[in-house]
Parts: sequence; structure tokens; C-alpha cells
Amino acid sequence: MNIGILGTGSYVPEKKLTNDDLAKIVDTNDEWIFTRTGIRERRIASENQATSDLSYEAALRAIDNAKIDKNEIDLVIVATSTPDYLMPSTAAIVQDKLGIKAAGFDQVAACTGFVYGLMTGYSFIKSGIYKKVLVIGADTFSKYVDWEDRGTCILFGDGAGAVVLGEVETGGYLSGDLNADGSGCQELIIPSSGSKKPLSQQTLDNKEQFVKMNGREIFKFAVRVFPETVEKTLSEIKMNVNDVDLFIPHQANIRIIESIAKRFEQPLDKFYVNLDKYGNTSAATIPIALDEATKEGRIKKGDKVMMIGFGGGLTYGSAFIEWSI
Ligand code: ACO
Repeated sequence: MNIGILGTGSYVPEKKLTNDDLAKIVDTNDEWIFTRTGIRERRIASENQATSDLSYEAALRAIDNAKIDKNEIDLVIVATSTPDYLMPSTAAIVQDKLGIKAAGFDQVAACTGFVYGLMTGYSFIKSGIYKKVLVIGADTFSKYVDWEDRGTCILFGDGAGAVVLGEVETGGYLSGDLNADGSGCQELIIPSSGSKKPLSQQTLDNKEQFVKMNGREIFKFAVRVFPETVEKTLSEIKMNVNDVDLFIPHQANIRIIESIAKRFEQPLDKFYVNLDKYGNTSAATIPIALDEATKEGRIKKGDKVMMIGFGGGLTYGSAFIEWSI
């Protein structure tokens, strides 16, 4: 049985925050942000928009694009590190908003979350347990960044992307690779966000409810693991980078993408880039890019698409699919 993507959808909040807007909040400027990251603007969720709201909008669009009845969905997976609540899961809230009867759970793998979600959904279908799985990557990091820290607040944006997985006639999932290395957990972390360091007046005073990131280490990590995971995924099916029609990399920094294109001796236009518009939307970057690339005609039936994620955990991974629709 071939298992692949039946439809894609995405949603970003209306509010735009440009680099010039940011320069009014912290000591930065458009030139620094654009040359160091490739980002021009990002979208910011409104006060009453949570991750489930963005997820729901993306899900509706993916279901519509897949041309299925929403009641066919057996499982909802939401990949997110910024859930509505620590408990209950955002997936359960999305399932309820959709008004369907389905299983649902969240997956936390930071910016690799969507690749984890995709492979989990694929496995559920491959095993025969479920027939159709809705995989959503969604994050609202604007609610978790310190808007006084120019090192992090310039990078993130909010958004959601979704796909419906199911049986396809041709193509579909080809190979994939997932990794976690918790020895690097301190490099990208929200320190006061769980049982290790529950929120207290002291953690609030220390601003430990916000993202802390060692930017240089994450940059070096990304450039190291990106080729490793891509080569592993391709060698599993005896292919190489020349067999890839389009790379959909996690959208964190254009310099990371450029260095990988150079390392693989591939033209930069084989790498889909939209981080100039949205910044780093964490688990949402890959499914938003997938959705935009298909709608722009950059992905056609039969194309081989390589998705690559890396981020907090530390985690990284890739999934290779042949487009079926
Ligand atoms: N505006 C102006 N100057 C700044 C800013 C800013 N926004 N931020 C930092 N600077 C200054 C620094 O203070 C420093 O000044 P100094 O030399 O006087 O000390 C100088 O610019 C250079 O700072 P660096 O941190 O060395 O800058 P770098 O070139 O490494 O770029 C960046 C920083 C953009 C964060 C980069 O390291 C990066 O992209 N890292 C990867 C981050 C990433 O991918 N994160 C997402 C992971 S995904 C996930 O799981 C959520």
C-alpha cells in the first residue's frame, strides 16, 4: 500500500510585524536582521488566538484540499511546543473544534515536530490501525519570546500547516529518519515551563518562562545534522541529492539553507524559502512551505520532496516523499 499526502493547508495570523516595527521595540534594524537571518517580517497571533485556533484553520483547509469528509479522519496529531495548555492536548481541542470523532495527541519535538508527526501518522496507517491521519504543525512562539531580547524575538513568527495522510495510488512515503539528542537540551529551552522548574515568582522575575537560545550552537548543530539526516534518508533507498526535486527545509535562517545548498552542490532554487515572510514558525514551517509550494506549482505529481527539520531537544530528522496529487 502506498501512503502519502492527500491534501495540504495552512494558516497564518493577519497581523504582520516587520523588521522596522521590531526596531521600535528593541535595539535592532532591518539590515542586521535580514542579512543575518533572511527574515523581513513575521505574523503574530492576536491576544485571543491560541495554537488550537491556528491549527483548526490550517486543518479545515487541508481537509478541503484533500476532498475528503472530515469524519473520515481517525487521528489528529498536533506537533507543537507552544500548546494551548500543558494539559489537555491541543489535538483534543482541535478534534472538538472540527466536530469529529477521532483520537488525538500532541507531539513535542520543537522545529522537527512536523517530521515526527508525519512519520508517526504514516506508521499508524502502515500498521493498519488507522486509514486517515490529520498531521498539523503549529506554534505561537510570539507568546513565549521575551520581547526585550533582540537575540530571540526577531526570529520567531506564528502559524500552522496541516496535511491529511492516507492511501494513495502512486508515490507517497519513500523513506525517513528521526533523531533526538537530549544532551543539548539547554541550548534551546523554555526553562520554567514544566515539572523541572514550575512557574514561580522567582522564575517570572528571571524571565524563565521565555525561550532561551544559544544561537551560535544551534546554527552549528543545524549545519552539521542537516546533511547527515538527508544522506541517511536517501541512502536507505539508494538515492542521492540529485534525485531530490525540491528540498523543504525548516525555515530558521537563510544562511543555514545557503550553506547546505553549497555543501550538496545544488542550486539554491531547489530549496523552498519563505522565511522572509513568516520567520521561524517552528513546527509549522515545513507544512506551511509544503502548502505554498504546491499552490505555486513548485511541486507537481511525481516530484520527490525532501523535508528536513532541526531544533530544540535537540532533535532532527527528514522525510522523503513522492508527490501523489
Ligand atoms: N540586532 C542587532 N544586533 C544583534 C541582534 C539584533 N537583533 N542580535 C544580536 N545582535 C548582536 C549581538 O549582540 C552581537 O554583538 P557583539 O558582537 O557586539 O557581541 C552580534 O550582533 C553578533 O551576534 P551573534 O549572536 O554572534 O550573531 P549570529 O551571526 O550568530 O546570528 C542568530 C544570531 C541569527 C540567532 C544565529 O545564530 C542563528 O540563526 N542561529 C540559529 C538559530 C535557530 O535556527 N534557531 C531556531 C531553532 S528551531 C527551534 O527548535 C525553535
